[in-house]
Amino acid sequence: MLRIDELTTEECAVYATLKPECMPQHVAIIMDGNGRWAGHRSLKRFLGHQQGANSVQLVTETASRIGLPWLTLYAFSLENNLKRPRAEVNFLMRLLKTYLESNLQRMMDNNVRMKYIGRTHELPAEVQEKMRWAEESTAKNTGTTLTLALNYSGRSEIADAFRSLAAELKHKRQSVEQVTEEDIHRHLYTAHMPDPDLLIRTSGEMRLSNYLLWQVAYTEIFVTERLWPDFRGIHLLEAIADFQRRERRYGGLSEVCGEVEENPKRIKIAAS
Ligand code: FPP
Repeated sequence: MLRIDELTTEECAVYATLKPECMPQHVAIIMDGNGRWAGHRSLKRFLGHQQGANSVQLVTETASRIGLPWLTLYAFSLENNLKRPRAEVNFLMRLLKTYLESNLQRMMDNNVRMKYIGRTHELPAEVQEKMRWAEESTAKNTGTTLTLALNYSGRSEIADAFRSLAAELKHKRQSVEQVTEEDIHRHLYTAHMPDPDLLIRTSGEMRLSNYLLWQVAYTEIFVTERLWPDFRGIHLLEAIADFQRRERRYGGLSEVCGEVEENPKRIKIAAS
């Protein structure tokens, strides 16, 4: 349900320029730049993450007001878990727990349903418990589904999908020759959702960083220099406005690319 009256005046002005029939159904975000945001202010990195958690809530609320069905945020990668100092990983885990505790009521008020993707069973037990609590408490909400990618890696998701598909084939005594793209999709963590239409990355890096590798095959990518702790709902709306100016061809032809020449004899090859 749309709650446009709850947008700020600035958000309303951008929203008014959008075409309602071309709204993305699924926006995925690589939230980058927390450390740099803190560094620019001579603050400790953890304060950047804390501000980043604030952006998560504000952006989610704008998404719910404009009726975005799916919002998927890269909150903690498997590589973050393996490669960051233990103190930072422990801080991120505590932050996630407090974030879920202190924002559950706001999720309810905004009709947001919470879900997770990733190897979440490897996270500390008390974090998993809080995650389950937030998921179950919001399960009946019908607005935006906010999916947090936690201990997530696109390649391990594909490996997990292959393992589970192989087990299914064995169980059903089916041959590998019969495997389709749809079968692989059914075994991904994201089987229940559409592929992202738009992928936003903050802080200017031009990388996918192992995020939703299978799912972003035809996703439009929007990169902004803005650091995640400075990212707000209005920037989500600006990214959607940019998305609506794109032409998605899915490997087909543009409507303005001219006539297709079907008679090979009439095609002149300059080099001949
Ligand atoms: C990148 O910043 C961001 C992360 C490692 C994780 C994202 C975490 C949050 C937004 C906060 C917690 C989220 C929730 C849902 C409570 P970086 O540290 O890599 O930044 P840098 O590249 O500038 O160092």
